[in-house]
Amino acid sequence: MNHAETLLPALRVAGLSKRFTLHNQGGVELPVLEGVTLDAFRGECLALDGPSGAGKSTLLKLIYANYRASAGSIRVRRTSAAAEVDVTTADPRTLLALRRDTIGYVSQFLRTVPRVGALDVVAEPLLGTADADTSALRDAHRKAQELLLRLRIPQRLWHVPPATFSGGEQQRINIARSFIRSWPVLLLDEPTASLDADNCSTVVSLIDEARARGAAVIGIFHDARVRERVATRVIDMERFQPRPGSR
Ligand SMILES: Nc1ncnc2c1ncn2[C@@H]1O[C@H](COP(=O)(O)OP(=O)(O)O)[C@@H](O)[C@H]1O
Ligand SMILES: [Mg+2]
Repeated sequence: MNHAETLLPALRVAGLSKRFTLHNQGGVELPVLEGVTLDAFRGECLALDGPSGAGKSTLLKLIYANYRASAGSIRVRRTSAAAEVDVTTADPRTLLALRRDTIGYVSQFLRTVPRVGALDVVAEPLLGTADADTSALRDAHRKAQELLLRLRIPQRLWHVPPATFSGGEQQRINIARSFIRSWPVLLLDEPTASLDADNCSTVVSLIDEARARGAAVIGIFHDARVRERVATRVIDMERFQPRPGSR
């Protein structure tokens, strides 16, 4: 991380709004977020705080371009380029590149590919689509093993596809997969939701390590103790609730 990178925000959200159009209810509009404005710098961990339904997961999905914004901008600084990309207007190819080199996302659910074992699922983000040479493969597997050990996945499961794993095991695979790379921007949607205390502490350490490597982390942490432990700043989502009657 050079000096300029620490001074410029990794992510700038400005005037961001989201309303859903409910097509199966005659096109009724459901406003969820209005005027979201925040900056995230490398080394920070922002915790999105607010009651269920406040739009926390929606904000992460807007940043990851799973949802399309209704208004506003989401500017992300790409590692490989000096210029920022506005996620709300970028073309699909740029969005894919952003997901490849800049933004990591731990969703609440693991999407697994059938027949791919846990170790390969975890190593995959390091290998990408290009043909990896043997040393890259070995290195990725070594890092994957380290994470599986730290997250207490029993060795007998390492070559089993995670589809049959318990909820907590799948979540740890999801976490390992997302922490194997040093993402400049890392989005975490309740990463500790179904974890025991020991694995929670491991995730807390992984978040601290990611910040130390220069990640800007934005997360939702339902557990207040985890939130207090990891957050360098708390964002109150109440500020971004649509006013009654607004659309
Ligand atoms: N794809 C969607 N279509 C319609 N409504 C949605 C969709 N995703 C989220 N919502 C609505 O947006 C609101 C905020 O949801 P969410 O962001 O999941 O809240 P939080 O994560 O803060 O609990 C909820 O009322 C939810 O029903
Ligand atoms: Mg949520």
